[in-house]
Amino acid sequence: MDFEMLPLPFDATRLTGLSQRLIESHRRNNYGGAVRRVNAIRARLRALDHSQAPGFELNGLKREELLAFNSLLLHEVYFDNLGGTSELEPGPLRTVLTAAFGSYERWRDEFAAMGKALAGGSGRVLLSWSPRAAMLVNQWAADHARAPAEATPIVALDLYEHSYHLDYGAAAADYAQAFVCNLQWERIAARFERAVAASAAAIEIARARSRAARRAV
Ligand SMILES: [Fe+2]
Repeated sequence: MDFEMLPLPFDATRLTGLSQRLIESHRRNNYGGAVRRVNAIRARLRALDHSQAPGFELNGLKREELLAFNSLLLHEVYFDNLGGTSELEPGPLRTVLTAAFGSYERWRDEFAAMGKALAGGSGRVLLSWSPRAAMLVNQWAADHARAPAEATPIVALDLYEHSYHLDYGAAAADYAQAFVCNLQWERIAARFERAVAASAAAIEIARARSRAARRAV
């Protein structure tokens, strides 16, 4: 199965401080590039003769596949996060953010500050849901690799140069501030609630398997 680019879920002419030209270049060249790379690598893997291919060739393709696939997924979270202007309304996401950071405002300040601190480097800042810790964490992620390993990204700020240079030149800190002013909280809250529901469902499945295994003994 080949992957296809998802459409933008917002009007790119209506963001604050992020131009249509920047967003469309980012989507077409970088998100689109990740989609094309994943498809090309997967085609190579399908054609690989495992009985003949040296280990370094398979290793290389699988590592590049992981990087390209994570780039695809994190670009989709990034674009899905944008298109809003409102504050986060009271609800499960606000409650869990407050438990982890003290207040929504403190979360937003730390998240934007992490983006500013990364300015001049590259990588991403993610807000991720950890089922193990049952909490939200702000984290740095580089080379499209992400951690904690079992966590789900909820908000993804792209700090690779392609994500801001057309509008901001070297002033990446201003771009990080603009990003948090354009968050679309309804979609972000829905993403968070899906992640929590998925982890609850996974825990329930694990418990059911454990009960079944005990009965089988
Ligand atoms: Fe990007």
